[in-house]
Amino acid sequence: VVRPDRLADSPPLFRSRPGAARALTLRWDRDRLVSASEGDTVSAALLGAGVLATSRSLKYRRHRGPYCLQGDCGTCLVRIDGRPNARACMTPVRDGMRVEPQNRLLPVGPDPTALVDEVFVHGMDHHHLMVRPRVANLLMQEVARGLAGLGRLPDRPPEGTSKNRHHTPDVLVIGAGPAGLAAASPLVRGGLSVLHVDRIDPAGLRATAGSSADRVLGSTGVFGVYPEEGIWAATTRVPGSADVLHVVRPSHVVVATGSRNPMLLLPGNDVPGVVSARGLVALLQRCKLELAAPAVVIGRGSHAELVGRVLDVEVLEPSDIERIEGRRAVTGVRLRDGRRIACRLVALAATPAPASDLPRQAGAQVRWHDGGFAVRRDDDGRCTRSPSWTLWATGDVCGWMGPQEAERDGRRIGAAVLAACRGAAR
Ligand code: FES
Repeated sequence: VVRPDRLADSPPLFRSRPGAARALTLRWDRDRLVSASEGDTVSAALLGAGVLATSRSLKYRRHRGPYCLQGDCGTCLVRIDGRPNARACMTPVRDGMRVEPQNRLLPVGPDPTALVDEVFVHGMDHHHLMVRPRVANLLMQEVARGLAGLGRLPDRPPEGTSKNRHHTPDVLVIGAGPAGLAAASPLVRGGLSVLHVDRIDPAGLRATAGSSADRVLGSTGVFGVYPEEGIWAATTRVPGSADVLHVVRPSHVVVATGSRNPMLLLPGNDVPGVVSARGLVALLQRCKLELAAPAVVIGRGSHAELVGRVLDVEVLEPSDIERIEGRRAVTGVRLRDGRRIACRLVALAATPAPASDLPRQAGAQVRWHDGGFAVRRDDDGRCTRSPSWTLWATGDVCGWMGPQEAERDGRRIGAAVLAACRGAAR
């Protein structure tokens, strides 16, 4: 039996802006149809339809839903078309796509493993639990094995065979946010060969970067640096297609990996419906959606004020919060002065933290800055030199700057890289 969106028991969180046709449909949890527009991510479609809880915590068995909305935290993992562990926030909707929750004991309905939190209130000693009698141990192992993995194995092997591609560009640019795009532009105009990659899918890149995204290889994440071999490794992963492994031997690398959205330490910060404010703003812009449910921003400082203005919702001080309320979904925020604000979305606006893991793998030094590790660089943006390449960094990965400042920084560093390449060619 296929149910259309049950608007009565799960009112939508978003509404489409005028003129956006919702022509696509995905099937959620076997029997619920959810509509979406071209370019929407799976998270945008599900949140928009009021589906907040999409999996369970592996350890605590509490409900989980998307948090960062930009591919960093892993709380949005779902099974898509029979393949487990797809990031709903990074996967564009295709018509007829099957999306299922994972890490549940039963495929549909309430999950009895949620009782773990209630029964083992002081924690569980899983080393000794049900070791005897043997039959109980066999039963426990069967259940534990089913819950401990990340989802079930794929229904079938992926179509086609994986491919390898080798690249030897003058410059590898990683990240197509404001800094990465601004840095790549003078390099391309200057006639250098540039390989520019980003994890976001091409539709998402077009929505955020316009036509300059056409030069960017989308859906491509860099996952490893091998200085001894002179290699950077990346994969292009598109649902329904074979993965592509890229082996890149660049002369220069510009890291513009931006920043992540940290959690604020508040009781109830893991209830589905608590999302990062920056991720929420990006999702609404990308998918041309508007908030259709009461929401609040929690945070302090210029970043929180900015997202509060963009979303047009109240901004609350973290120190004023008693707890975020709700179990399967956010229902409100309780303040220390006894007031309660009813809402269905809570957007956390902690100062973004530099996404510096990759440059650190490549040997860049970091410093503690505003709640994260920012990359150290010289005045031109240079971080390290190895026999194979020179590493440069620009934008938020060097410490949170915000989009305008990041773009200015990208232009400056792009010009410095171009000058270095030309100097080397003379
Ligand atoms: S990885 Fe998708 S919400 Fe964080």
